Amino acid sequence: QQPPLIDPFARAVTYLRVSVTDRCDFRCVYCMAENMTFLPKKDLLTLEELDRLCSAFIGLGVRKLRITGGEPLVRRDILTFFRAMGRHLDSGALDELTVTTNGSQLEKHAAALWEAGVRRVNVSLDTLDPDKFARVTRWGRLDQVRRGIEAAQAAGLRVKINTVALKGVNEDELFDLVDWCAAQDMDLTFIEVMPMGDLGNDYRVDQYWSVRDVRARLEDRFTTVDLAERTGGPARYVRLAETGQKIGFITPLSHNFCESCNRVRVTCTGELYMCLGQEDRADLRAPLRAHPGDDGALIGAIRTAIAAKPKGHDFDYSRQRADGQVSRHMSHTGG
Ligand code: GTP
Ligand code: 5AD
Ligand code: SF4
Repeated sequence: QQPPLIDPFARAVTYLRVSVTDRCDFRCVYCMAENMTFLPKKDLLTLEELDRLCSAFIGLGVRKLRITGGEPLVRRDILTFFRAMGRHLDSGALDELTVTTNGSQLEKHAAALWEAGVRRVNVSLDTLDPDKFARVTRWGRLDQVRRGIEAAQAAGLRVKINTVALKGVNEDELFDLVDWCAAQDMDLTFIEVMPMGDLGNDYRVDQYWSVRDVRARLEDRFTTVDLAERTGGPARYVRLAETGQKIGFITPLSHNFCESCNRVRVTCTGELYMCLGQEDRADLRAPLRAHPGDDGALIGAIRTAIAAKPKGHDFDYSRQRADGQVSRHMSHTGG
């Protein structure tokens, strides 16, 4: 057993988020431009490289693996990769294998995800109105996602809904979303829109709705009780006294979770980002490709990178763009 990954601030890295593709079948207005240029295939890590990379991290103490994108389930043969990662669940090396998805392909893949060992999925859904849904995603079909969610639940998967709070878009649906999630026994998390990726529009400025306001609005109808528990993620949770429901809030631009940060993320091209809000990164694709049969260089590169994990994303905005925008796209890093 290798010594675990501990960063300079004594935080153990136990949660790895891996983006397996930058592609997506939707183009959410706050995430992508309408005509995105996607990466050439050769730049992406192959499924074998992804396996080596994730397995190396698991060997170094990662206990939770989340597969993201883009939309991870649009990558061809991705279920092969999930099944391969299932071996680490079987051996007890990994506690949780999970996925963040837009739900469009869930109907097709839910049962296979369960069989691979996935027990929980996070589904992004910002509105329950089919027309609005088509506008926010630019062409997505709400009924397809709803069928995906039903299939996931039927397969035994627990579903958490991630909703980006958007002023003038889903403001009027707050209670509908809460009621809908309560009726299906799903947790719900509201996310503030983040300035990631240059989309050439002001959408995220105009539609910014702070989760503070979301919470205040909820309190018009519910009594919220703060929950101390943290799930190892960035969300703060409350319980609604009236329904017993758990609601999460993610304020990406506040830094309240940096001190307990346990995560790093790898892009679909094998760049290791030590912090979502900073540009510091390490190339893991080069050591993977230079030494196909030997993970020594890869492990060395991972250790070197973790030794430079920044304290938090608010400490050095100078390395970002002057307007505070992170130039990289969310779909590249996977959130
Ligand atoms: P759970 O395992 O259910 O706690 O999931 P999670 O919240 O870790 O993962 P999910 O993919 O559902 O994350 C939801 C969103 O939270 C992401 O898309 C990001 O917008 C945001 N987020 C996740 N991790 C971080 C982080 O480390 N920093 C910041 N600023 N935002 C994050
Ligand atoms: N700001 C906040 N959330 C975003 N997501 C994608 N782009 C952004 C952004 N700019 C969300 C999606 C999904 C999660 C993976 O990331 O809606 O819930
Ligand atoms: Fe696709 Fe998710 Fe980005 Fe929407 S937010 S375009 S579903 S990656």
